Amino acid sequence: MNKITADRLNKIEPSPTLAITALAAQLKAEGKDIIGFGAGEPDFDTPEHIKDAAKKALDEGFTKYCDVSGLPDLKTAICDWYKNEYNLLFQKDQIIVSTGGKQALYNLFLSIINIGEEVIIPAPYWVSYKDMVMLAEGNPVIVQTTFTDGYKLTADALEKAITSKTKAIILNSPSNPTGAVYSQDEMQRLAAVLEKHENILIITDDIYDRLLYDDQKFFNIPMVSEKLRERSIIVNGFSKTYSMTGWRLGYALSERTEIIKAMAKLQGQSTSNATTFAQKGAIDALTSSQSCVEEMKRAFVERRDFIVDSLSKCPGINVVKPGGAFYVFPDFEELSKSDGFLKLKKENAEETSHSKLLTKLLLEKYLVAIVPGIAFGYDNGFRMSYASSLDNIKKGMERIHECFNNLYK
Ligand SMILES: Cc1ncc(COP(=O)(O)O)c(C=O)c1O
Repeated sequence: MNKITADRLNKIEPSPTLAITALAAQLKAEGKDIIGFGAGEPDFDTPEHIKDAAKKALDEGFTKYCDVSGLPDLKTAICDWYKNEYNLLFQKDQIIVSTGGKQALYNLFLSIINIGEEVIIPAPYWVSYKDMVMLAEGNPVIVQTTFTDGYKLTADALEKAITSKTKAIILNSPSNPTGAVYSQDEMQRLAAVLEKHENILIITDDIYDRLLYDDQKFFNIPMVSEKLRERSIIVNGFSKTYSMTGWRLGYALSERTEIIKAMAKLQGQSTSNATTFAQKGAIDALTSSQSCVEEMKRAFVERRDFIVDSLSKCPGINVVKPGGAFYVFPDFEELSKSDGFLKLKKENAEETSHSKLLTKLLLEKYLVAIVPGIAFGYDNGFRMSYASSLDNIKKGMERIHECFNNLYK
């Protein structure tokens, strides 16, 4: 029988972060004492007042379809938020609410990319950007950043990556997987390059904008360059800030109403509106006290400080202190040159990826789940999420120390 699935799926890979989380869960279910550092979601429950607002909405009959692009009241709450927090002004017709930031990004790529157009993606990148661009028949142009640049794109590297086919660039600060945060200065340097290239759109994935530590201020391209506002599309959502991953709510904002309209057209022919009563919960999230976010941030900072300190004591590991999100991305290039690692490579000659090899060793022998850096376009690194209790992190780090010390012997 002929192959039944469509060829376009051959271009993309299953989400590796979801895969490692599922594998760790399966091993746990088999009775293995796995410590998971794979989670891409906060380990806190959604705050009660947000859940109450959604329950009330259910009782009040918000159980039907609504406008494809979202409830007007939620759009108002989003506009107010952007005006008050970031001094960015949007009208309701410049917003679309989608089923997660993920769907907003997917709609966006399908709405703006023509065959062969290029999207600049700094690596390490969030796993889905590259595959989404390929599904839209565009070409991802990966620009490697490294541990020594703090995993941040420089103006020089950006300039070199731009061609006549560049349609867009995507920036993500704080970053998944590195936690890197661009300062106002760094954003301004990138903006200065982009201002010179008038046809390039700027996609700013701000999903971790509120999980920012050490009194840093958040900056994206539209905030640092008035000139670029009109070419920017902001993507954000409720998953990370309010621990609402399962609610599936995100949104996009752009002064270019034709982009928002195109996304709504696509959404209208695919999923229609995001869940109506969930949107009512999101209104409450934005308009009530933000103390729940502060509480979560305090826990993340404590865990980050512990994990970074512990990783910095591991042999062969270089670690940059993440400024935001809940991930840390150690570089293990030095460890990969140790006798122990070279021996491991010899024994597993069929595995060409260093980060997959390390992930497999940690999972099978030390019962620790991490995500291999190759999934994010950086094979000398791995991602650890600290969205897990401090006790778990301590236990997991003991095992990681044991593993790395054994490799480094
Ligand atoms: C960088 C980044 N962007 C977008 C998303 C999408 O999040 P959601 O679809 O839950 O809003 C995620 C989720 O992991 C992410 O890490």
